[in-house]
Amino acid sequence: MKRQTLHLRLHAIRILLYNTSYTISRFIFCWDSVLVRYLRQLQQQETLKEYVPKIKWRSNPRVLDIGCADGSVSSILSTYIPQNYEMFLGCDINSNSVKFANARYGTERIKFIVLDIEEPIPENLRESFDHVFSFFALHWLTNPEKGYMNIYNLLKPGGEIFLILSAESPYYDIYHSLFRTKKWAPHMQAYDTFVSPYHDCKDPDKVIYESFKKIGFRNIDVQCKQKVFVHESTNFLKNSVASINLFETPKHMQDEFLKDFIDVARDMRLVEDDNSVKFSYNIITVHCMK
Ligand SMILES: C[S@@+](CC[C@H](N)C(=O)[O-])C[C@H]1O[C@@H](n2cnc3c(N)ncnc32)[C@H](O)[C@@H]1O
Repeated sequence: MKRQTLHLRLHAIRILLYNTSYTISRFIFCWDSVLVRYLRQLQQQETLKEYVPKIKWRSNPRVLDIGCADGSVSSILSTYIPQNYEMFLGCDINSNSVKFANARYGTERIKFIVLDIEEPIPENLRESFDHVFSFFALHWLTNPEKGYMNIYNLLKPGGEIFLILSAESPYYDIYHSLFRTKKWAPHMQAYDTFVSPYHDCKDPDKVIYESFKKIGFRNIDVQCKQKVFVHESTNFLKNSVASINLFETPKHMQDEFLKDFIDVARDMRLVEDDNSVKFSYNIITVHCMK
């Protein structure tokens, strides 16, 4: 299955759960709460807080968020930028996400459009942004350099970018263990397209640095940082995995898949005595200018 197809599925499910959560959030697992936790975590980890002061904001900036999904993170990001911004544009390859984002977070100055960052960019967007952001999206690209080049072309001269990409993560290792079994391999053909190209990469920061340098970016700062996320229980982790059911697991085998997922996590000694599950993972931050 293609990476993009996977994303379309992932976000269709995400939006479905998001809508569902309005009505039954008190009774069952709710994706919204996971997302909020994830965002809080993101903020707790101070990634944004650390980088926002380093950004040389331009006056009345035009800001782009690539891979905006349902717009919830874009909406949070829009509170971090100077409030005299001219426009904030979120873009995503998934038209359903964009529709949802516009309906929920769109305003006169905040808009969302469908755009595949790996495809040729529309002429009217060329060199039109002062600041470009992208969080946890660009490691899905089949040809990342094409995406990075497009970002360069979207920026005005002197414009600035800040990106967060996923690198090493126990999620990938657990999925890989399951993928190697006779039982799950037939249902996980998409594994190869799902895993971040920077997961098994020895020096992902150096690889990314070289790509950006070759394109012509300057003042490049690429850092690989270790983060920790504690799932409060194995059930919480199960629910998170279920909500982003990326693979073609037959419905009647889904509980078994989740059980095996947790068993692998246990074998990897990720489950603590209090039944919480601690994931240490790496993210890559990229901050540079055109
Ligand atoms: C994991 S989500 C991240 C969403 C949001 N930025 C966040 O931090 O929660 C990745 C998003 O990237 C989008 N995406 C994947 N490939 C893309 C592409 N080639 N062009 C634009 N968006 C893409 C997906 O549709 C998905 O919405």
